Amino acid sequence: MEKEKDIYILAIESSCDETAAAVVRNGREVLSNIISSQIEIHTAYGGVVPEIASRKHIEKINQVIEEALKQANVCMSDITAIAVTYGPGLVGALLVGVSTAKAISFATGKPLVGVHHIEGHISANYIENKTLEPPFVCLVVSGGHTHLAIVKDYGVYQILGCTRDDAAGEAFDKVARAIGLGYPGGPKIDKIAKEGNPEAIQFPRAKVDGSQYDFSFSGLKSAVLNYINSCEMKKIAYNQADIAASFQKAVTDVLVEHSLHAVQEYGLNKFAIAGGVAANTALRTAFETACCQKKIEFYRPSPIFCTDNAAMIGVAGYYEYRNGVRSGYDLNAVPNLKLGVR
Ligand code: KG4
Ligand code: ZN
Repeated sequence: MEKEKDIYILAIESSCDETAAAVVRNGREVLSNIISSQIEIHTAYGGVVPEIASRKHIEKINQVIEEALKQANVCMSDITAIAVTYGPGLVGALLVGVSTAKAISFATGKPLVGVHHIEGHISANYIENKTLEPPFVCLVVSGGHTHLAIVKDYGVYQILGCTRDDAAGEAFDKVARAIGLGYPGGPKIDKIAKEGNPEAIQFPRAKVDGSQYDFSFSGLKSAVLNYINSCEMKKIAYNQADIAASFQKAVTDVLVEHSLHAVQEYGLNKFAIAGGVAANTALRTAFETACCQKKIEFYRPSPIFCTDNAAMIGVAGYYEYRNGVRSGYDLNAVPNLKLGVR
């Protein structure tokens, strides 16, 4: 029997503040994963400035793509298809990746595949877990999204719950700013929390009325702000590390409880996490422990594949390509693209 031809995906990601390109072979083998981060530039402003992000993407994107091909030891003629994130994200940032991918596709005649950013985050789990296949439950926790979903098949999702207000990552970023850690909040809270006591302050674990799988983090954020205000009024010095650890514990408790409930209710024994917040040390440990106790198989990407990268877009792009998805040159950036909607 003739050996199936290898499929090489060149993937491009520019939805927020990382300019990234990768080459992925046959869906799960990452040959290169180049990430040019703008974090240092945005730190001066306390968060991502969309206009600056777009300009920096334009400066870097060609370089990053060339480097991805070089490190993968392939040339453009080896590539089967071009995958690109077209939403959700910052419109100006997304447009840089989308326009570049369209130009490459037009110049080379290679097919273009638009990829959903969150689908990319979920697909990051396939990189290091070669045998993982749907169906499984996945919790996506990023800067803009908190979704609990059943991955029914490649590219087929059933959303069980999402956040009613702030995303998990947004809560980390806002609390970090409130306690004076600055941007980017998630990794800074992760680090300082290691020196704090997670039981020091009892922050609320919010439940959303009538929906056991939805999340709400704005009350928790307000509780942290109120705690800081009351310390300041009483002229008591607050402990940054204790606040960080207690806040992190409150977020994690809710995420673990909702997720494991879903895994058990739907009779699925496999659970995965994805998105930038999935890089959080305490969250990873909490899920590991809880899944081990309940005998649930737990999957998580390495931290580098949790935060924004193009390898995950290459993986998702591969499965879309295999499913026959082809985008036209009218592919546009869709800032609020919903999961499961094409
Ligand atoms: O997935 P991502 O890189 O970008 C989006 O698609 O939004 O996620 C970024 C979010 C930010 O809110 C960042 O603070 C958070 O992920 N994050 C973390 C950690 N690393 C990144 N949150 C908690 N702990 C971390 N170690
Ligand atoms: Zn992301």
